[in-house]
Amino acid sequence: MKIDHAQLLSLNLRSECRVHLTPAEGGITLIEGSTEYQVTSDNKNVANIKDILRVLDGSSPYGEIRKQFVDPSFADEFVLALYDAGLAKTNNSATEYMSGSAALAAIEDHQFSMLYDVLYHNRFWVACKNPQSIPKNVLLGMAIENYHFLYRESWFDTPVLSYLGNETARLAMNRFYGEEYGHDELIFEAITQLGVTRDNVRDIQPLPQTLALCNCLSHWAATDPLFFFSTLGVLEGKDPQIDTFVKTMEQSAKIDRSFIEPIHQHALINIEGKHGALTTEIFDSIDVIQNQDVRRMIKKTKIFIDLYDDFYSAVWDYYSNESNPVLRFPSSSNMTSPREAIL
Ligand SMILES: [Fe+2]
Ligand SMILES: [Fe+2]
Repeated sequence: MKIDHAQLLSLNLRSECRVHLTPAEGGITLIEGSTEYQVTSDNKNVANIKDILRVLDGSSPYGEIRKQFVDPSFADEFVLALYDAGLAKTNNSATEYMSGSAALAAIEDHQFSMLYDVLYHNRFWVACKNPQSIPKNVLLGMAIENYHFLYRESWFDTPVLSYLGNETARLAMNRFYGEEYGHDELIFEAITQLGVTRDNVRDIQPLPQTLALCNCLSHWAATDPLFFFSTLGVLEGKDPQIDTFVKTMEQSAKIDRSFIEPIHQHALINIEGKHGALTTEIFDSIDVIQNQDVRRMIKKTKIFIDLYDDFYSAVWDYYSNESNPVLRFPSSSNMTSPREAIL
């Protein structure tokens, strides 16, 4: 967009160009990143150009800094040419960004406080502290809902496989997806012991809260990949140890080892693949995130943890009631809502 002189004076302009003298060609070279731009100029202006580029850092309106130049009208002409060529950029928010790792630290502050204030007080997790008194159906139900979640993982992982914002992040996500693919089969192996077969597994209905979590994650993956990346560390479990749920099953003495084993194997894959560290790896690779994006992600973090909390509450509420069937076929009498049969 072309700008006039008055607009030029009002802009905070920033240039990352460096100057390289090329006297043989009768001019100078401006270098931005790996790209070089030849500029013809009188030698007397080389010093001026160096001065201009040194102070063009976006911290003040150009109209204020031009006064210090020996030849302000030359500076105006040069800076306008830089702007037109895309080599000087507006920077009205010089302090409004942070590194990816600083952004994640800000988001995790809120994640952790919500995990401690909300999720760890969830009735399911409180019950897990006393494995021998937890109802057997809750343990089986958690495995079943885990299956439903993993079966739908491609809904929310695949939209970010082509993430263009950062190559390292994209490769990390693709590696993760390759490792995750087919994990529902491990849990399927366990729940076959409950009478689940290849023929009827598609008929079993997840709890509405499980579907809500899957639907929201797939929406976020498609519309806000950065925020979706921030959820992975929580979903995969940040601690490099066997999931508390697996330990609870083992300590309850209510579940056959043959049922637990495939779920235990799944937990080991998470640990070996460092899946809990994926979010950190992705954010560490991102140089800059705008503050407004961080604020948006912090707001969404509350929704995410609330949904995650609802997921565990629903597991407890449904499966701790012994009159509810463990396998929720559409014909089961205790299906909580006809809408669930849609998916
Ligand atoms: Fe997995
Ligand atoms: Fe995983």
